Amino acid sequence: MYHKILDKVGQLNTPCYCYDLRLLRSTLNAINHEIEGFPFVVHYAVKANANPVILKEIKQAGLGVDLVSGNEIKTAVAAGFGPELMAFAGVGKSDWEIEAGLESGIYCFNVESEQELEVINDIAAQRGMTAGVALRVNPDIDAHTHRYITTGTAANKFGIDLPMLDRVLDRAMEMSNIHLRGLHFHIGSQIMSIQPFELLCNRINSLLQHYEDKGIIFEMIDAGGGLGVDYEHPEENKIAGFHEFFDVFKRCLNVRAGQKVHFELGRSIVAQCGVLLSRVLFVKESSVKHFVILDAGMTDLLRPALYGSHHKIVNLTSRESELVTYDVVGPICESSDVFAHDEQLPVTQRGDLVAILSAGAYGESMASTYNMRSLPQSVFFE
Ligand SMILES: Cc1ncc(COP(=O)(O)O)c(C=O)c1O
Repeated sequence: MYHKILDKVGQLNTPCYCYDLRLLRSTLNAINHEIEGFPFVVHYAVKANANPVILKEIKQAGLGVDLVSGNEIKTAVAAGFGPELMAFAGVGKSDWEIEAGLESGIYCFNVESEQELEVINDIAAQRGMTAGVALRVNPDIDAHTHRYITTGTAANKFGIDLPMLDRVLDRAMEMSNIHLRGLHFHIGSQIMSIQPFELLCNRINSLLQHYEDKGIIFEMIDAGGGLGVDYEHPEENKIAGFHEFFDVFKRCLNVRAGQKVHFELGRSIVAQCGVLLSRVLFVKESSVKHFVILDAGMTDLLRPALYGSHHKIVNLTSRESELVTYDVVGPICESSDVFAHDEQLPVTQRGDLVAILSAGAYGESMASTYNMRSLPQSVFFE
């Protein structure tokens, strides 16, 4: 895509997100290829990137959506997703958001506590409606990922603790405006090993058996998202390991007849199709460092400041072969506004154009106007 970016460079204001729609389509095709013939339903986690052009492609590929706010519900409705393909998750749903979900007729609320279940039942009863519900289970599995993006251990705020599940499930079964559809799990994000997903399958299997012994067979199981992407070698691994990921669930999960398995993938669908394009404002030296100061900052791409994560950086315009070690930083008045420490780049000058790779997920969607900055624009390449 870089040569296409450079062709258009005169028309681009930086910082901006550039998306490769061909790569997005290939990624979506890879997913559809893996799930074909299996009772699998893939929802796209809209929080990863809610850009309307991206959503249009995802809808065209036939995926559903995983939503975490009332505004995401409105966005998904506007993008044309059908209610039967919408799930609404989130540990703290406001009343108006629950109402928005009911009004839209969404397939399922992923419920995180007994109190939330009662509130949804009450709001549905006031409207003479029934809410489809999956109980989000905290499976107490360590996904061995960053502590800010692990979600499935008992110390996390997410989900219903295993020892409490029976009681909440019994309550759900007796509530007149709740239709219990199944169980929901999500153990974390940017998971690069298959093992946590195998552990998850084992946990799900024992819960399915436990409830089957009580005469309960769920219509669906939601195994969440979390598949990681290669941030260090994005050009070699443009498409995430969908084969290995779905294969775990094909091999390890004891799916009952007629039961569907839902997934909620975000990062692995959109991360690699987006780069953040930025201009070098200044290059400066201290007694110990060389700094490249970009016009993009943590307001445009928060992940490095928030999680200490690293994105590969490419200087698109330097013709130099000599490499220099730089700290690549943004212009925001925060010391954490650093994209990379000790990054090896060709000799870099004011005006050079830099691409920060693998920025399609949790990039544009986390952008803010801190320091009264403008939100980054987005452009698309076929
Ligand atoms: C409940 C839930 N589902 C799905 C996702 C998407 O995860 P990922 O982007 O890692 O696939 C998240 C991300 O945090 C989540 O919290």
